[in-house]
Amino acid sequence: MPERSKILNDYKKKIENLKKHNNYYYNEDSPKISDQEFDNLKKEIENLEKKYFFLKELNLLSKIVGATPLNKFKKIKHLSPMLSLSNAFSLEDMKDFLKRICNFLNLKNKQIELFCEPKIDGISATLIYEKGILTRGLSRGDGETGEDILENLLTIKNLPKKILSKDAPNLLEVRCEVYIGKHDFSKMSDKFANPRNAAGGSLRQKDAKETAKIPLKYFAYGFGKVSPMIFNTQNEFLKTIKKWKFETNPLSKQVDTLNKIEINHREIEQIRSSLDYDIDGLVFKVNDLSLQKRLGNTSNSPRWAIAYKFSAEKAITKIKDIMIQVGRTGAITPVAKVDSVNVGGVVVSNATLHNEDEIERKDIRIGDTVQIQRAGDVIPQVVSVDKSKRDKNSKKFIFPDKCLCGSKTSKELSKSTKKLDAVRRCTKGYSCNYIAKEKLKHLVSKEALNIDGLGKKVIEQFWDLNLIKEPSNIFDLNYKQIENIEGWGELSINNLKKAIKKSQIISLDKFIYSIGIRHIGQENAKILAGFFRSIQEFSKLFDFKNRKKILINLIDLDGIGETQIQSIENFFFNKTNTRIIEDLMNKLNIKDYVTQNSDGKFSNKKLMFTGGFKDMSRSEAKEVAENNGGKVLGSISKKLDYLVVGDSKPTKSKIEQAKQLKIKIILEKDWNKILNS
Ligand code: IVH
Repeated sequence: MPERSKILNDYKKKIENLKKHNNYYYNEDSPKISDQEFDNLKKEIENLEKKYFFLKELNLLSKIVGATPLNKFKKIKHLSPMLSLSNAFSLEDMKDFLKRICNFLNLKNKQIELFCEPKIDGISATLIYEKGILTRGLSRGDGETGEDILENLLTIKNLPKKILSKDAPNLLEVRCEVYIGKHDFSKMSDKFANPRNAAGGSLRQKDAKETAKIPLKYFAYGFGKVSPMIFNTQNEFLKTIKKWKFETNPLSKQVDTLNKIEINHREIEQIRSSLDYDIDGLVFKVNDLSLQKRLGNTSNSPRWAIAYKFSAEKAITKIKDIMIQVGRTGAITPVAKVDSVNVGGVVVSNATLHNEDEIERKDIRIGDTVQIQRAGDVIPQVVSVDKSKRDKNSKKFIFPDKCLCGSKTSKELSKSTKKLDAVRRCTKGYSCNYIAKEKLKHLVSKEALNIDGLGKKVIEQFWDLNLIKEPSNIFDLNYKQIENIEGWGELSINNLKKAIKKSQIISLDKFIYSIGIRHIGQENAKILAGFFRSIQEFSKLFDFKNRKKILINLIDLDGIGETQIQSIENFFFNKTNTRIIEDLMNKLNIKDYVTQNSDGKFSNKKLMFTGGFKDMSRSEAKEVAENNGGKVLGSISKKLDYLVVGDSKPTKSKIEQAKQLKIKIILEKDWNKILNS
């Protein structure tokens, strides 16, 4: 039947064509047709299969590996953010951690029950179970939004697709760490430097069939959203999910005293190398979940947990050269280029020397044999010099007093300690090409504009090609020129265009963080955004006269001090900075800052505290006020709505001042009533 053979021919041609482009995209990483053209081709094949059953029977489409999830992973907002952990490196740090917790909760030296688990060095993922059925699996992403990697997660053996128990809450989000066993990794090809990278690469495979070839494993360690909440402690949570067939780490246990913390840390460090998975420390968590809730989070990490890291891995090597690096705040950091050496599974060829004083103190010279160490994700550092191996002709290293841009550098006098800073800085801001490039990397980073596909390496590449020299250039990219760069195809360009377009809508706090004012991190950016509320108000900082007035007012903000104010002043004093930021603003749609809780008990109210409370610390009170939409000020002024007076030693003059200014006074008992109402 000619008709039939024609159809078959047509079908096979299309299949061959799809195979070819599939290969360009997946194997050569160099697509030749757009996303849409690819999708259209696939659709045509699907339609033919639908229309002619004999084609469906051949089943050629489904055999094309990778053809299915062509688009990048779907982005999905996390039900609750996936945070990082703060680190402890010594028992002293652990002591501080416990003290911080007791202070926050206002518990005087009470023993806090902790739960201790190994910190698995893998890739985090979150699993969402609705009525016991696994419906979603997301990567961490930027912590706020993850990627839908369910297909890939489903390839993990022993990962429950269904919770059979009747007790499972309606909604349960299980957080876990995905890893590749050391033994399995040793059998893999050399494509990845370590098991962690291999696990990451595997989870990000666009084709789940490829992921399935790699034996991924996982440990569940925590939860995100749970409704209704049925757990009371971390220990109980892990025990329960273990019964529900989740993998939990067998080395986890409850501890309470500092002594037990240290013993556990030492014992597990000793068996570390014999485990089949990499761990880089222990995580200590407050066991009681109601206390965890009260402790809450800072912008990046929970207050109720800490990672107590194992000691760093060390190695001996030789310094080939000492180079200077310029950071985004102008800090001049000396970096030792060393003979490549394997430090605990990672090949290292650069190590930081911190600053001029450090080189002077340790008398570090080019040609020296040195010990270097690497701890976790931190940049490796030079620990000590073996002077016995030093060449007789070696010369002291003279630290350059100029930045790579040629400008003079200086050391700042600290306002608080009245001492000269150890770090030398270039103060040219965006006028220094080296600082400008680093500022661009910060601007596009996850926590700032978050432009996928425009990472550090691409910024370097585009900078060298004169495509991006300042922030606003990002939005006027010459894509014709990019098309000709190796590694850039239509698909990656389209994705970049999409990501750039998406980044143009940004909240005021993220914008303030993005422009990279020294001393203004995420937390301070939020405080400032809460103060200015809109970009129109923030823009008043550009005008010299307004600026002075505004800066005086900033001192009222709890968390903003002289250092931050000075830094904002310096930033806006620099004409290049202001021109560049104005150009950037013209490309963006900056949304007004909305407090998370605009219908809270204190929404749009300004509060101040004096005196101590019986049941909560000042920090907790501040957090509670902010979570209820309030803003906490550090001094009394007409702007204040409430002065909250704790029973324990309130400052009398503050109460007097508040009375004179007719500010409402809330006593401790009323404060408790409001919170419980
Ligand atoms: S608890 C931050 N427990 O470490 C929220 N994390 O640096 C609480 N990790 O994203 C995390 N093992 O991917 C926790 N036993 C463990 C862990 C663990 C590994 C990872 C996890 C997290 C990262 C934080």
